Amino acid sequence: MRRKTRSCCFPSCRLPAGRRGPAVLLALALLALSGCGGGKDDSLRIGAALYTQDDTFISAMAQDLEGLVREAESGTGEKITLFIADGKSSQNTQMDQVDRFLARGCDVLCVNLVDRTAAAVIADKAEAEGVPLVFFNRQPVAEDIQRWDQIYYVGADARESGELQGRLVLDAWRADRESLDRSGDGILQYVMLEGEPGHQDSLLRTEYSIKAVVDGGVEVEKLANETANWNRAQAAARTAQWLEEFGDGIEVIFSNNDDMALGAIDALASTPRERWPLIVGVDATAPALEAVAAGQLYGTVHNDGRGQAQAMLDLTLALWNGEDPGQAVDLAEGHYVWLPYRQVTLENLDEFLEK
Ligand code: GAL
Repeated sequence: MRRKTRSCCFPSCRLPAGRRGPAVLLALALLALSGCGGGKDDSLRIGAALYTQDDTFISAMAQDLEGLVREAESGTGEKITLFIADGKSSQNTQMDQVDRFLARGCDVLCVNLVDRTAAAVIADKAEAEGVPLVFFNRQPVAEDIQRWDQIYYVGADARESGELQGRLVLDAWRADRESLDRSGDGILQYVMLEGEPGHQDSLLRTEYSIKAVVDGGVEVEKLANETANWNRAQAAARTAQWLEEFGDGIEVIFSNNDDMALGAIDALASTPRERWPLIVGVDATAPALEAVAAGQLYGTVHNDGRGQAQAMLDLTLALWNGEDPGQAVDLAEGHYVWLPYRQVTLENLDEFLEK
């Protein structure tokens, strides 16, 4: 891999002097002394900020990123340093972490926002230092992504995951309506476990899962919905309440992610019962795949965390090397990388277990 020098290709060089941050000005001063090829350090430094490490899908994705960085290092002989910071669900903490990454001279930032509305502040900090920024998993509004041409978003289309989850239920209904429609009233009674309020995946999965079922010609009745913040224990508590309230009246449990679906399973498993509602999740985490194998989770939708980590790294390396990022990843509208979702049931489980 031939690295072009950061000084010649990074957008900081193109910024008007008034908009350059102190670190950029210092870097430019050093470059003036040492020529265009001179950099402070030859290694690539990536700062990755997670909204919390206490999230099954996000921590697996961070591990994937670490593994991919090590592979890239040994494959290319380049030294890559990856800093990972746990935001512990506090936007203030994450702001400090971003400041520290910039002060340490990180070349690219990868940010999984705690609060999606904080994107603009981080974008402005990164732009002021001329450091490209890759948001991931928690999608900022389009205006924030478009603030600067070196801002990207890597993720998966939330609406698609909702539709695929809804179609899992629709297929189950069509295949064996009698066992799903326990009440025999021709209506599908459901409860919905929702992720964090305001998260694009909570809003769109909730909406589009049900829309897919209704569009498939099935009448539905919502018994209850509540947030469990992506969290297994909170979901177990909500489900236990609903089981008391509705008993066997619940025919399907839709869950915005797998951890909450596993919480519902915990609640169901805690008291012996003859029949379980159909349960569906999203993510295809390792414990969820086990639950599919055990017949407790009917199905899930694979959220390609490894693919997203790979896309972040490819983007980062392209930017670092001064290459066109559009050649390294499939870039939509100059800023977005979208990874596809896939349905998982007992039928194709093996494909995912092998990964
Ligand atoms: C979603 C994922 C959830 C949770 C959330 C965090 O994409 O399905 O399990 O990790 O991201 O932002």
